[in-house]
Amino acid sequence: VKKPNIGIIGGTGGIGRWFADFFQKEGYAVHISGRRLGPSYPELVEKCAVVIVSVPIKVTSQVIRQVGPLMPEESLLTDLTSFKEKPVKAMLKFSRSEVIGLHPLFGPRIKSITGHGMVICPARGEKWLPWIKNIFLKHKAAVIETNPRQHDKWMALVQGLNHLNTITMGLVLDRSGLNLKELETYSTPMFRTKMDIIKQLFGRESRLYSEIITENPHIHRILQDYGETLSGLKQIIRRKDSQRLQKMIDNTKLFSKETEQQ
Ligand SMILES: NC(=O)c1ccc[n+]([C@@H]2O[C@H](COP(=O)([O-])OP(=O)(O)OC[C@H]3O[C@@H](n4cnc5c(N)ncnc54)[C@H](OP(=O)(O)O)[C@@H]3O)[C@@H](O)[C@H]2O)c1
Repeated sequence: VKKPNIGIIGGTGGIGRWFADFFQKEGYAVHISGRRLGPSYPELVEKCAVVIVSVPIKVTSQVIRQVGPLMPEESLLTDLTSFKEKPVKAMLKFSRSEVIGLHPLFGPRIKSITGHGMVICPARGEKWLPWIKNIFLKHKAAVIETNPRQHDKWMALVQGLNHLNTITMGLVLDRSGLNLKELETYSTPMFRTKMDIIKQLFGRESRLYSEIITENPHIHRILQDYGETLSGLKQIIRRKDSQRLQKMIDNTKLFSKETEQQ
């Protein structure tokens, strides 16, 4: 594949901006657009053989619906959305081009892609897949090739459950009417680690995290398990049944003896 021009819709901010810099450093001509800035979609498609959609989750399908029909068959339409099933389906439906779903498992604050996860969901065509894969492999990213459904199932845990848990703890802390300064004096190392995570989530990108939780198609199962687990724990704690609680922890298969020895 000859070096294509790359268009990033949503390249004016967030992770799209990060990938604009990344591809520019790789020697590609990158054209970015946002709501107010940059070329129109027909102009972008005219200039770029590769178009990357990197807009807020809620507007992703709508943007794909607009740009998809403009993409020629030999071009590549791809996206960076945190979910894959819905955007990949939309890209397949609204374009005739090659389609690959991408999900970087990192945010725009990282310095280098090396060692970070990069999910690739090949969906239509074979011409562009080696090209995009090799760019990430060249930088020693941890490339994971999978299908959209499997990806979204993992994300229900890695992001849905994870952030739900962080938000719950943050909201409970807020309800307690605590004085953060005073709390800090009493904090333990484990608490400080958790507070750092809560700070990250409550401090910025609350829209992204809210969408990541509410838009995941598999989150309802997680919510069900979360609720049932909490109800079970409530009963045990009310009975002051520490032995039962300990048994529950010990009986999990999460960290088996073998895992510990590795
Ligand atoms: N941030 C992350 O850590 C991260 C990591 C992995 C994947 N993602 C995924 O990347 C995508 C973008 O997330 P983000 O956090 O980078 O969002 P963001 O910081 O809010 O940036 C969104 C970009 O989309 C543009 N935009 C907003 N509404 C638009 C619209 N209606 N039409 C066209 N462009 C629009 C914005 O440009 P203007 O403001 O100039 O209009 C901006 O360039 C999401 O699908 C998210 O799931 C994000």
